[in-house]
This record gives sequence, C-alpha cells and structure tokens, in this order.
Amino acid sequence: MSRQTQALIHADALIHNYETISALTPDSKIMAVIKADAYGHGAVNVAKILQGRCPCYAVAISEEALILREAGIDEPIVIFEGAHQPQECEEAARLHCILVAHNHQQLDWLTKTPASRRPPVWFKIDTGMHRLGFDLADIDKVMSEYAALVTAQTVLVTHLASADDLSNRFTQHQLDKFAALQQRYKLNCSIANSPATLGWPGTHAAWNRVGMGLYGGGPLPQLSAGSTLKPAMTLQASIMSLRTITSGESVGYGQTWVAPRKSVIATVSIGYADGYPRHCPNGTPTVVRGQRAPLVGRVSMDMLNIDVTDIPNVRLGDTVELWGSQVSINEVAKLAGTISYELMTRLSTRVPRVIVK
Ligand SMILES: Cc1ncc(COP(=O)(O)O)c(C=O)c1O
Repeated sequence: MSRQTQALIHADALIHNYETISALTPDSKIMAVIKADAYGHGAVNVAKILQGRCPCYAVAISEEALILREAGIDEPIVIFEGAHQPQECEEAARLHCILVAHNHQQLDWLTKTPASRRPPVWFKIDTGMHRLGFDLADIDKVMSEYAALVTAQTVLVTHLASADDLSNRFTQHQLDKFAALQQRYKLNCSIANSPATLGWPGTHAAWNRVGMGLYGGGPLPQLSAGSTLKPAMTLQASIMSLRTITSGESVGYGQTWVAPRKSVIATVSIGYADGYPRHCPNGTPTVVRGQRAPLVGRVSMDMLNIDVTDIPNVRLGDTVELWGSQVSINEVAKLAGTISYELMTRLSTRVPRVIVK
C-alpha cells in the first residue's frame, strides 16, 4: 500500500453492537442488513465477522446476494427489493435466498416459477412509508389470490418512515395499521429497522432488520445509560505535506479559507474521490495526535487541508482520523448536510478496508 488512507473495520465493535442490540430484543431474531456493501464496511467482511452469531443477512438486490454466496456465506439471505427480472425467482431459490415481494408483477413471476424451484416469499405491506409494498386495503385479496406462495416461512414485512424520531406519532400509527394484519394472518412479521429496534419496543417482531445499529452510526435513539454502540469504522489518512503560511494567506481552491494568524497547514491524503464529503465546511473536525484539527479550505479530489498550528510535534506521516471513535461520523455528516448512512455508503473502493480483529 502506498498512501496510508484506509478504513479500519473493527470486528470487536461489530460483535459488541450485534450483541448489545440482540440483548435488547430477546424475543426477536436480528437480521444483519449488509446491503450496499454493508454500508461501506464490506459485506463479506461483516458477514464473516458475524458468522455463528447472526442467523440471517439482508441485501437490497440479487447481485449482492450472489457476492456473499461466492464468498462462502451460507446463512439465509433476504433480498429486500425482490426480483427485478423474472429469472431472479429461480436464481434466488438456487442461492437459498428469500425474496420480498412488493407488487403483483413479482407475485406473477413467482407463481409461474415451478414450486420445486421457487424461493420462500415474504410479503411487503405499505403502512405509510409509501415506497414499496401492497396497499393495506388490497392485502386480503393479494393473500387469497397468491395463497400458493404463502408457506410457513412467509413473513409479513413493513417499513417505518420516522422511527428515528421518538416524538413522532406516525410510528404508532403505522404499527396500529399493521397490528390487525398480524392478528389476522398469524404469520411471522418484520417491522423494525435500527432506530425502531433501539427506540420502539412495540415494533419488535419475529425478525428485526438492523443495519446502522451494527455500524454504530446514527441518527439513532440513545441506549440506556451504561450501554452504547461503538463505531465499527475508523476512516484515517496521513499527513503528506506540512507548510507554514502567514496571516492573510489563503488555502485551497477558491481561497475559501484565509489564515487569521501565522498557521501550520497539513495536507492530508484523502479527498472527495475517496468519499470524504466535499461539502464539509471550514472547521469540520479531524483528530491528529489526540487533538482536534479543523478542516481549512475546500476538499479537493485526492487531498484536503487541516490547521495543525496548535498541535505540538506534528510530523509528516502522522495519522489523521476523519471519523471514528474520536470524531463522530454523525458530526461530520451534519456539517456536510447529510447523514452517516450516506457517508458510509459513499466511501469509494479506492479506500482499502482493513479488518482489525
Ligand atoms: C427495508 C429496510 N429495512 C431495514 C433497513 C435497515 O435500516 P437501518 O440501517 O436504519 O437499521 C433498511 C435500510 O435502509 C431498509 O431499507
């Protein structure tokens, strides 16, 4: 490896987070959501780290399931978006995956698939998210028309729109709508994502679908005192250039930062092509030698600059934490006008993921 830019993936944090969340939900099973390359952590990495603990994984699309199978991951995998093409129905069965069906076209494809080559089917129901799922008013018709697809493995799934806001009553409204179905069909259910698993015990069902909680980012409801989730990723790079500039001199493209005093500027080997957000403003924190060092000037494609004037003994090659346990990814995301989900999933393939055991 040439430059020292890397994302450390902390196996102990992933296991800690998985176990902490599992302990909160003794009557539910936790499915680890590892779509989008496990939110940038590496889906195969995360599946292997959780192997033996986690009974089931979830991805968005078939291609993501295939990568896991090719890497030797054998646990059941739920494909959230179901089939986009008819041939994916048989492929899912061959790969021992579960398809979530959210529209009639998918159910028709599954019906035409010979029963011996058909995967288990879960039904997605729209209780207010208005993204995917059958309308509640149609569900009885759907369940009787496609009764041949309903088996003991079938799960009724819904997704919550605002579970990260504990004061928002829409979650209870969605739950109330779903409760009648739970009663009527006596099938297993899956409602909760991470914020719901942590903050809304009433949403816990047979399967909770946990993504961000495993990765220790946010926004998520706080756990009770004494138990916290740990960041599973540290994004770090090193100082590749150091210079002193005088008061009044500017740094970077567009000269958006002007030194208010004589300043020591460190150039760090990471930029927006690596996934560090270009929208981060002056002052966004990084940490060098245990001390905060603010971003100065615009983030460039491969580099960014920080002010290290107040950090004694700073040296070329020093490690800079962009986010991790010293700099919260939530803080960086907020300053960039986004959420940790986007920062994690946008980390580019140019950044090696290094597993720390
Ligand atoms: C349907 C569904 N369930 C669960 C999740 C996991 O959400 P979280 O990362 O908040 O746990 C997602 C993620 O986007 C999702 O789309």
